[in-house]
Amino acid sequence: MNIKAVIFDLDGVIVSTDECHYLAWKKIADEEGIYFDREINNRLRGVSRMESLEIVLERANKEYSQEEKLALAEQKNNCYREYIKSMTPDDILPGVMATLEKLKSSGIKIAIGSSSKNTPVILKQIGLENYFDAVSDGNNIKNSKPDPEVFVKAADMLGIAYNECMVVEDADAGIQAGKSGGMLTLAVNGANGGDLSLENLACGDLVEIIQA
Ligand code: BG6
Ligand code: MG
Repeated sequence: MNIKAVIFDLDGVIVSTDECHYLAWKKIADEEGIYFDREINNRLRGVSRMESLEIVLERANKEYSQEEKLALAEQKNNCYREYIKSMTPDDILPGVMATLEKLKSSGIKIAIGSSSKNTPVILKQIGLENYFDAVSDGNNIKNSKPDPEVFVKAADMLGIAYNECMVVEDADAGIQAGKSGGMLTLAVNGANGGDLSLENLACGDLVEIIQA
């Protein structure tokens, strides 16, 4: 396998922000009198903020104007930002740092490919703002996963061919995005219904698979 770079999704792979997203959307939904639960929240994984809002509003019994939608998305984000303020490097998921360090020392490039516009804030909170070779996120894309744009841009920033990149994702939409970008994909933390994680995949293994 000739993999020269690994592009990691952020939410659900490097850190678990699902609960913060859930609590923030739940607050908005409750205030609007819209039914919302964890199962619906699972559908928001990898999906952009405005597309997530559309999914939340599927259960609403009134139509929202574009202005109202933008206001709701902003409220949700303000609430979410309050929750992530308390994140620290301790919130990095088990197995992640060992995997990243091993890749770096093996000369494999590492990048972030996330739909989140809060990527720079989260990376700063967890002390990894200067750690990756490239960061592609919700601020530099027009099309959210399952469109491959965010990963394609990460590969372009690294200057590495798409078929020499591996994508690590926890969302089915992200796996689809990686595949349609012509990249190898690794589904972790519930993607494709599996239970593989970077913790139970011994960090050496990923490098061995890549270099095999
Ligand atoms: C993704 C999350 O990483 O980012 C989604 O999995 C979220 O749940 C999306 O909706 C957008 O995030 P943000 O931080 O830009 O609102
Ligand atoms: Mg994710």
